[in-house]
Amino acid sequence: MNEFAIEATGLRKQFGQKTAVANLTLQVKRGEIFGFLGPNGAGKTTSVKMLLGLTTPTAGSAILLGQPLGDRATRAKIGFLPEHFRFHEWLKAAEFLDLHGRLHQMPAAQRRQTISDLLVLVGLQDRAETPLRAFSKGMLQRIGLAQALLNDPELVFLDEPTSGLDPLGRRLVRDVINQLRQRGAAVFLNSHLLSEVEQTCDRVTFIRQGEVLETVSLHDALTAVPVVVRVGQPGPELLTSLAKFGEEVRFDGGNGRIHLNLPDEAAIPRLASWLIEQGHTLYELTPQPLTLEERFLQIVGTQSEG
Ligand SMILES: Nc1ncnc2c1ncn2[C@@H]1O[C@H](COP(=O)(O)OP(=O)(O)OP(=O)(O)O)[C@@H](O)[C@H]1O
Ligand SMILES: [Mg+2]
Repeated sequence: MNEFAIEATGLRKQFGQKTAVANLTLQVKRGEIFGFLGPNGAGKTTSVKMLLGLTTPTAGSAILLGQPLGDRATRAKIGFLPEHFRFHEWLKAAEFLDLHGRLHQMPAAQRRQTISDLLVLVGLQDRAETPLRAFSKGMLQRIGLAQALLNDPELVFLDEPTSGLDPLGRRLVRDVINQLRQRGAAVFLNSHLLSEVEQTCDRVTFIRQGEVLETVSLHDALTAVPVVVRVGQPGPELLTSLAKFGEEVRFDGGNGRIHLNLPDEAAIPRLASWLIEQGHTLYELTPQPLTLEERFLQIVGTQSEG
C-alpha cells in the first residue's frame, strides 16, 4: 500500500488573471494529521477543492490514496467538511445524513446504524427529527462533520471545522480528529485557530499567496528552542562560553537573565550540567518554544491579502 494519503506535485489554479494557488507540492502520510495554514485568501480552500477533484487544476497533478486525482473509487474513501456548506434546509437532520448515505451507496441497515452513532458522536441525537432550517450555526457545523464521517473515510478534509463552534464543539472536533488518528485515517485540516492546530496536528504547512512557504513538524525535538538562563554571577566570559551551546546569546541587564537559542531540546540538559560543572549557581533554565501563532506571524508575516 502506498505510504502517502496525498502527494501533490506542482498544483496550480488560475482564475483569469488571479493566481489562487501557484505551485502546491506536498505530501501527507496515511494516518497523519496535517494542518494547512495561511492568511485569508492564501489559497487553502482552492487547494482542497483541487485535491477533491471539485475544481480542475490549471497545472500539476496529485495522487490520493495511491490513485490519480478524479478516481471515483478513491473519492468514496474520502470525507469532506466544506468551508461553506449548502444544506438542504428542508430536510430533517437524520434525513440529510440518510441522503448522503445513499449517495455513498450504503445499504439501509448500515445507514440506520451509522447515522444513529454519528448523531450521538456530534451531540445531536435529540435533533434527528429537527429540520436543518431550525438549526443554529454550530449545529449545522456539527451535522456537516457527521456527514464528512459517514463513509468511514481513510482521508478527511476539514475546512475550518471549528468555525461557529462553542468550546464544547471545538473539543468535539479535537476528539473526532484523535479518533480518526487512532483508526489510521489521515486528516487535512484548514484552520485559523492555531492553538487547536497546535494540539492536534503532526505537521503543518504554511502558505501565502498560493505559495508553500514552509512545512514544520510540531512534535519535533530537533527544532531550535529559545531558552532563558539565570545564574548567580554572569560574567562576560560566561556569555562567550555560551556561544558554544547556541546562537543569539544576549544578556538582559534589566532582569539579569541570559537569552539564547539552543539548536534542539537535547542541548538543555547538556547546558545545565555544564553550568553546574563550571561552578555556576543555576536558578533558572527555561525553554520558551515559539507558539504556533508566533511562528505563523514570523513565517507568513502580519499582512493579509486582498
Ligand atoms: N471561483 C473563484 N473565482 C475567482 N477567484 C477566486 C475563486 N475562488 C477563489 N478565488 C480567489 O483565490 C484566492 C484564494 O482563495 P481561497 O478561498 O482558496 O483562500 P483561503 O486560503 O481558503 O482563504 P480563507 O482563509 O479566507 O478561507 C483568493 O484571492 C480568492 O479571491
Ligand atoms: Mg478558505
